[in-house]
Amino acid sequence: MRPARALIDLDALRHNYQLARTLHGGRALAVIKANAYGHGATACARALATEADGFAVAFLEEALELRAAGIEQPILLLEGVFSADELDLVIRHDLWIVVHHAEQINLIRKAHPALPLQVWLKLNSGMNRAGFLPHEVRPAWQQLKDSGRVAHITLMTHFARADEPHVHTTAEQIATFDAATRDLPGARSLANSAAILGWSAAHRDWSRPGILLYGADPMPGDPNDLRPVMTLESAVMAVREIPTGAPLGYGARFCAERPTRVGLVALGYADGYPRAVPDGTPVAVDGVRTRLIGRVSMDMLTIDLTDLPAAGLGSRVELWGANVPVNRIAAAAGTIAYELLCNVKRVRFEYRGN
Ligand SMILES: Cc1ncc(COP(=O)(O)O)c(C=O)c1O
Repeated sequence: MRPARALIDLDALRHNYQLARTLHGGRALAVIKANAYGHGATACARALATEADGFAVAFLEEALELRAAGIEQPILLLEGVFSADELDLVIRHDLWIVVHHAEQINLIRKAHPALPLQVWLKLNSGMNRAGFLPHEVRPAWQQLKDSGRVAHITLMTHFARADEPHVHTTAEQIATFDAATRDLPGARSLANSAAILGWSAAHRDWSRPGILLYGADPMPGDPNDLRPVMTLESAVMAVREIPTGAPLGYGARFCAERPTRVGLVALGYADGYPRAVPDGTPVAVDGVRTRLIGRVSMDMLTIDLTDLPAAGLGSRVELWGANVPVNRIAAAAGTIAYELLCNVKRVRFEYRGN
């Protein structure tokens, strides 16, 4: 069997959730959209079921999958609904919805839900991606109330740059949110992972940790107690020696600067490992760091075993995990850990700590 696999440490997931909840205070919606950032939404929801206050996904189908798997906790749809018929399913499956633009209020006003809706009303406090502008939020709140179709309204916003501790925009977004919602009743939710870690002024009734749950620090560098949840690994499936000056792999990007022992690893960009990383990107072989050499291929990649004489056929190769932070690989690829984690596919998923 091909040795490529993603090991998912559910104890680490629970640990990170509790850390988020403790750091922020109040209640925490575990953000498990996009298949729990690539970790497996059902398995992650089940692992958190006894302790999570609720979950957040992007859209209805993601929530229905969780309900079908027996998840009973509150589930918030971060994109809200796209049509009136989705509102019926929202009620039938006891889901919560974000309302972030006027058309969604129109849908609610025209609908006849069997029970009142649980709404999270989103304010655009400066990110300018989704949500009502400060002067629109009070009328939107009133329209929802007047519709007679809404039970509770939670007030929320989302930060554009909370992972940048030295820029002032997060403080401005907090102030904008507070000013626009000052007289409105209801619980508040502002903080994503970076704000949980770095912006205590944003801590209110509910947090919404995402990337932090999976152990990837959105602000790498600061010490913390996060534990990586996913280990992406495979094994050496062939070894060859190449002489000084010999090219290796597509485009001959790498040329051996000394006699080099090359390990061929069964994992490539079709599995979600980024093709963009340069020579020298770290990997760990049986827990010892070495480097990637040569371009990443679709199903394979090559690593330098010259200084690891004990390594050979079958040696375990960690692409990211406890020895190689996923953030390090993301930086090497010019992207973010979120994208790498979401893109893992085709490998075997194995869960520990059920
Ligand atoms: C509205 C909202 N809240 C929370 C999150 C979680 O963000 P993070 O993964 O940075 O914690 C997201 C993710 O994109 C989001 O869209």
